Amino acid sequence: MVEIVLFAMLIFFKIHIVSCLDLMVDDFSHEYAQHGDARRGVQQWNLLQATLNQAAKRLEGSFLINASAVAAGFAAVSADCLLGSARELGHDGSEACSGRENDWLMEPLLALVGRGLLLIYFTLRAASVSEKCTRTRRFINSLFIAGEGGLSLDSDRAYLVRYIDDSAAGFYVQGVRITHFAVMKLFYGGCALTFAIIARMSRA
Ligand SMILES: *[C@@H]1O[C@H](CO)[C@@H](O)[C@H](O)[C@H]1NC(C)=O
Repeated sequence: MVEIVLFAMLIFFKIHIVSCLDLMVDDFSHEYAQHGDARRGVQQWNLLQATLNQAAKRLEGSFLINASAVAAGFAAVSADCLLGSARELGHDGSEACSGRENDWLMEPLLALVGRGLLLIYFTLRAASVSEKCTRTRRFINSLFIAGEGGLSLDSDRAYLVRYIDDSAAGFYVQGVRITHFAVMKLFYGGCALTFAIIARMSRA
């Protein structure tokens, strides 16, 4: 119990950092909307991207350790449940097949699911930083600065939009950009595995 609370604290601490990054991207859009200077925008985006990369690099080590711990835990629990190592270890073969034999797996499984959900929440927040970087480009594109004769074709702004697009900024873990789609796949896989284990446990 204490472990999961500590784990949750660690994750919420990391989420706090990711939320700050999220706010920085918002702040960039806000400032650009105010000054409308593409050259300054390029410089600020450069700085923002460097900050994002640096923060992601600091966070990725601990994230990878925690994610692989949860993945290994799921692998161990599913091996215990699906391959039936409990049955082999049990002293009485006939009784071992009863449903109660697998009950001891419930507690570690619940702890793993709790950790997994916290990690998914963290990756979701990290993915929203990446998505926000993509949206910033659209936002800047949609801002039009009225020139002398109404709408002016602003090539500086087009350059900034192109620059943001080419920089592909976002939250990277080991060179992989975290997006909502990737988190969804992870969540789907986790749900399917948990469901399979629980179905197997209640059937056994
Ligand atoms: C998660 O990562 C932190 C920092 O590396 C580590 O102290 C902690 O033990 C890890 N937790 C799990 C469950 O792996």
